Amino acid sequence: MGTVSVPDQLDPDVCRSLIHSYRIGKRAPIKFTRSQMTSQHHSNRRPHNWLIYDIADTFLQKYAPYYDGVLYDLGCGEAPYRAFFLLYADRYVGVDWAGSYHETKADIAADLNGSLPIESSVADTVVSLSVMEHLREPQIMLNEAYRILKPGRTMILQVPFMWAVHEAPHDYYRYTCYGLQHMFSKAGFVDVKVEATTGFWAMWTLKFNYQSARLIRGPWPIQRLMSALMRVIWAIDQRLARWLDKRWKGEQETAGYFVVAKKP
Ligand SMILES: C[S@@+](CC[C@H](N)C(=O)[O-])C[C@H]1O[C@@H](n2cnc3c(N)ncnc32)[C@H](O)[C@@H]1O
Repeated sequence: MGTVSVPDQLDPDVCRSLIHSYRIGKRAPIKFTRSQMTSQHHSNRRPHNWLIYDIADTFLQKYAPYYDGVLYDLGCGEAPYRAFFLLYADRYVGVDWAGSYHETKADIAADLNGSLPIESSVADTVVSLSVMEHLREPQIMLNEAYRILKPGRTMILQVPFMWAVHEAPHDYYRYTCYGLQHMFSKAGFVDVKVEATTGFWAMWTLKFNYQSARLIRGPWPIQRLMSALMRVIWAIDQRLARWLDKRWKGEQETAGYFVVAKKP
């Protein structure tokens, strides 16, 4: 297999043509440098939480063989992964709703708690990242994802588990790996694979970092000082957590899950 180097600017057209020219068999693996990693420009990425974005990048890159044809991103938000997915897929369609707290870049405005204004069996890939916890009717979203997928194609979903309530009041559920297995199977998916994103140490470190970030308050010189100090601690603890997770992952207390599932 050949490899492809990606230019610094993730211009989808340039990157796609590069990949096509290097394709051996169906896909050529892409080597990403740090600045090209998929979440580098995510608007929520901060000094205290980059670890969870780096981990998600690793999963998203690992699942690259599944991105293909027309890719629907359910709950796309600001569509931070659009350019990345377009390295592999031909078309990207973002779906989000009018009630979003984000400046969404949706192509289709729709509430994922109900039926989608999308025809059946049109998607080659469906992705949904950090969305299912925000849905009152998550099973409906999975049923609809299944309906819009073409047979034999794949859905990739990421959802938090040990994670603080966010985007309140639209934060309704947390799921165990067994709950996810059950719900995907109920929707009709097969070959459902659930993977923990972190072990205990990264989960715990991220919780500590979020809490310490919340504690940076008071007059601005104090804030500046605390912030400088905490940045050093965050830089060390996230590296240490990654190292510890490699040695003892302890997946029962993961920060979240990725799910890969196929429509038969
Ligand atoms: C945490 S953000 C994740 C955004 C994006 N997927 C990402 O990874 O950056 C959750 C997204 O789900 C969307 N969302 C929440 N409830 C929704 C609903 N009922 N229908 C459609 N989108 C919804 C929000 O608007 C928001 O864009």
